[in-house]
Order: sequence, then C-alpha cells, then structure tokens
Amino acid sequence: MNRFSLEGKVAIVTGSSGLIGKAFCDALKEARAIVVAADINANDDIKKDYYFHYTDITNEDSVKELSDTIINKYGKIDILVNNAAINDMFEDPKATLELSKFENYPLELWEKSLKVNLTGTFICSKIIGKQMLQNKKGSIINIASTYGINAPDQSLYINEAGEQMFFKPPAYSVTKGGVIMLTKFLAAYWGKSGIRVNTLTPGGVENGQDDFFINKYSNKTPLNRMASVEDYKGAIVFLASDASSYMTGANLIVDGGWTAW
Ligand SMILES: NC(=O)c1ccc[n+]([C@@H]2O[C@H](COP(=O)([O-])OP(=O)(O)OC[C@H]3O[C@@H](n4cnc5c(N)ncnc54)[C@H](O)[C@@H]3O)[C@@H](O)[C@H]2O)c1
Repeated sequence: MNRFSLEGKVAIVTGSSGLIGKAFCDALKEARAIVVAADINANDDIKKDYYFHYTDITNEDSVKELSDTIINKYGKIDILVNNAAINDMFEDPKATLELSKFENYPLELWEKSLKVNLTGTFICSKIIGKQMLQNKKGSIINIASTYGINAPDQSLYINEAGEQMFFKPPAYSVTKGGVIMLTKFLAAYWGKSGIRVNTLTPGGVENGQDDFFINKYSNKTPLNRMASVEDYKGAIVFLASDASSYMTGANLIVDGGWTAW
C-alpha cells in the first residue's frame, strides 16, 4: 500500500473551490500530499484547509505566477490536477432553450468553453509540465467527462411534463473530447522524461437535481445511481501516486458504467 502514499509530494488542483475539486484536494491530502488549491474563486472551506493561490488558468502570466510561487515555497511540483472547467450558462434563463439549440448556439459561448476547458488545460500542462521536467518526474491528471466520450442524450433534459428544458450544448463535449486527446499527446511526448499524463473521466454527480432527473440518469447507469464526490477520491490518488506507475495516456473512466451501454 506504500505505493499509494503521497507523502512529501506537492500537488496543485485547479478549480479547487468547486464540487469535485474540493474532494480531489481532500483525497490527495488524506494520502499525505501537500495540496495547493488554485482557482479564480476562493471559498472559506478551501482557505481554511489549504494553501490557496488565486489562479486564472486561461492566463499564462497567472499560471506562471502560481508555478513560481510554489517552487519558491516548496521547491518542486509533483502532481497537477487539471480540474477547472465551465459548463455553459445562459444569462437569461428564459432564452436557454432557444440559445442552447446547436443552430442558435452563440459563438462567444463556444469560444469561452474552449478557452477555459481546453486552452486552460493546455496552459497549465505547458507551464507546470516544464517545471516537472526538471525533476524528471510528475503526474498530470486531466479531468474529462463522459460527455467527452459519448454524445449527450438530449432526452435526459426533458422534464416530467414532457418539455425539453434545454439542449446540452456542443462546447462542453467537444472540449472534454479534446482534453482526452491532449492527455494522449502529452503522454507520448513526455513518455521518456518521467512525466505521466492520464485522464480521469467522471460521470454525473448528484447535486440538488430534481428526483425526476436523478431517476432518469440512474436508469441510464448500470450501477443505477448518480455519483457522489467520494466516488472519485480513490481514482485521483491512484493516478497521482506510484500505484499507477505503468500508466500514461490512459483514460480511467469512473462513471457507474454510463459509457458501457
Ligand atoms: N459535476 C459533475 O457532475 C461532473 C461530471 C463529469 C465531469 N466533471 C468535470 O469535473 C471537473 C469539476 O467539475 P465540478 O462539478 O466540480 O465544477 P464546478 O463548477 O463546481 O467547479 C469548477 C471550478 O473551476 C473554477 N474555474 C472556472 N474557470 C476558471 C479559471 N479560468 N481559472 C481557474 N479556475 C476556474 C470555478 O471557479 C470552480 O470553482 C470539471 O472538469 C468538470 O467538467 C464534472
């Protein structure tokens, strides 16, 4: 079990103030890593438990500043979890159904998702990967989604009254598919240098959705339930640690079987 230990390792988790990011921080800490929480939003829970560093992953200077600060403070970076991402939000909820149709989907939303979900992952991997190269060791974990593997089934977003509430827009799926490919690219590129790069693909987390949605989602999932954030803690420690030392370029799918059907 020593291979799962992260004793003495320095880990950065982006998007650490969010639902899954906080659980990733907790899991890495429980495995004894020193965890740096990086986000554009601080929350009190995170600030209480972790060293928090304001970081905008879409801005190279901001990520460079994060990297320099951590090197000055701890001397190295062993683990990077590229977790920060956005899901499309429409400013006017009444316009959501129309704007979420592919035929109407605003270019600016497409570009915004690309910028955070894909370019942000690229920037953090580039700047922090360069730092890891100096130690000839590192583990980068890119967080994708089942929607980066399978297209959204739009019928999931029909409510109890039979109305389509919105369509899951294209940018989320496309950026998450891109993250899976960026993982493979970097795994191949850095293979000989000691940096491993893997994807963790989570399924949907139960988080205040209505019962009708939860039941529908569960029926589409072989394990017949949505995830809890706890379900991802083992997988992140496994990928971060030497327990996965012969894995790179892989996609660890933790989705209750969603993509098996
Ligand atoms: N929640 C789910 O059901 C689910 C399912 C599959 C995959 N995922 C993936 O898991 C990851 C975490 O999802 P979540 O549900 O915790 O999301 P969340 O919205 O709760 O958290 C995302 C965090 O990213 C931060 N963020 C956004 N833009 C940023 C930027 N430019 N720089 C730095 N931080 C930024 C936000 O402030 C937020 O704290 C995402 O990659 C998401 O795509 C989530």
